[in-house]
Amino acid sequence: MTGTGNEQARKVAEALAYTTGFGNEHSSEAVPGALPIGRNSPQRAPLGLYAEQLSGSAFTEPRDRNHRSWLYRIRPSAAHPPFVRAGQGALRSAPFTDCVPDPNRLRWNPLPEPAGPADFLDGLWTLGGNGDATQRTGMAVHLYCANTSMDRRVFSSADGELLIVPERGGLLLRTELGLLRAEPGEVALIPRGVRFRVELLDDTARGYVCENYGRPFQLPDLGPIGANGLANARDFRAPVAAYEDVEGPVEVVNKFCGHLWTATYDHSPLDVVAWHGNHVPYVYDLRRFNVIGSISYDHPDPSIFTVLTSPSDTPGLASVDFVVFAPRWLVGEDTFRPPYFHRNVMTEYMGLIEGAYDAKAEGFVPGGGSLHNMMSAHGPDRETFDRASAAELTPQKIDDGLAFMFETRWPLTLTEQARDAGHLQQGYDDVWQGLQRHFRPPGKTS
Ligand SMILES: [Fe+2]
Repeated sequence: MTGTGNEQARKVAEALAYTTGFGNEHSSEAVPGALPIGRNSPQRAPLGLYAEQLSGSAFTEPRDRNHRSWLYRIRPSAAHPPFVRAGQGALRSAPFTDCVPDPNRLRWNPLPEPAGPADFLDGLWTLGGNGDATQRTGMAVHLYCANTSMDRRVFSSADGELLIVPERGGLLLRTELGLLRAEPGEVALIPRGVRFRVELLDDTARGYVCENYGRPFQLPDLGPIGANGLANARDFRAPVAAYEDVEGPVEVVNKFCGHLWTATYDHSPLDVVAWHGNHVPYVYDLRRFNVIGSISYDHPDPSIFTVLTSPSDTPGLASVDFVVFAPRWLVGEDTFRPPYFHRNVMTEYMGLIEGAYDAKAEGFVPGGGSLHNMMSAHGPDRETFDRASAAELTPQKIDDGLAFMFETRWPLTLTEQARDAGHLQQGYDDVWQGLQRHFRPPGKTS
């Protein structure tokens, strides 16, 4: 898109209105009277619209995990020509079987810039994942790098919800349920099956995507923390209804069981004039995260930084957690304050939105990422260890970075392109070299 296009998108983005709250039964109408009152599917929907339910959960799932929205649209989604297979660039899906799972610590620099024009969909590049998209289990890690807006085409994933983590460049997300703006430092979620188009607010856009094949992300329980804290429900923003009444060819790309399929509609499917329900996109500003930590000694496990969690069927075991390392104070006495040395049954993919991360002095850069697979040993690098072990423990504000983690219950298997990438760093193991032996058994003086 041209600079003028970016400016137009930004003007739209800056004027957006929202409805607030996580998991709410929202309702919205772009035209007064478009939303039926007292029933979902009247004999004739208002204003000549079609009523359509979008089910994100089985009808009979318990109420607290039941996701569906009713859409009132110009044409029903069923009015479309056949889908045909499409090329899918660097987008891949679970099951990931091309590579043997790798126990090594791995770290990547940011994705290279695209060689030519690339919109959000063109720019998706899959690092790896786990589970099976056809079984609605596991997750995938994608990155994106785009330099143009999607034009007369929309995308959706039947395989999972998409948690988009912008690192560079703002996004205007035009979805079936309305418009969202997502800037670096914010995250946006597109629910399974919801169609959307991404327009750029700046010349380029880069970031991360967690495609969650499993149960939708929810807020973690707070236990003894109490009724407030971490990501507060009221800070999540959902769109208000906004529709396109556009005739003419629009390409609709559908990710289905790992493959992209395409159909050319004779109208825009972003034609929902009113809706209600809880299967909705949303955006959240990570700077609103209420960081909770120790005020005595040690620091809690990083689960204390969980923004969103996708539960598995085992209580307490997440299929995937989205965790943010937001600005915070460190005050622990007699405490090694950076993240501890660790081996973990869970698998940790980390990315950096801005600044630096307090466990790595260098090499972990915004737009890059690291993978510490199941049981791989990780922790602070030598420089960080030496500094933190000798530091005077005055209260310290960590406010020079915004890192995040996708933490998942199963090992993450790479795609071939991630394993062979030119931007895969060589020698990442070296950051843990030179950790000196300090052991002094009692009675031994040297
Ligand atoms: Fe860890």
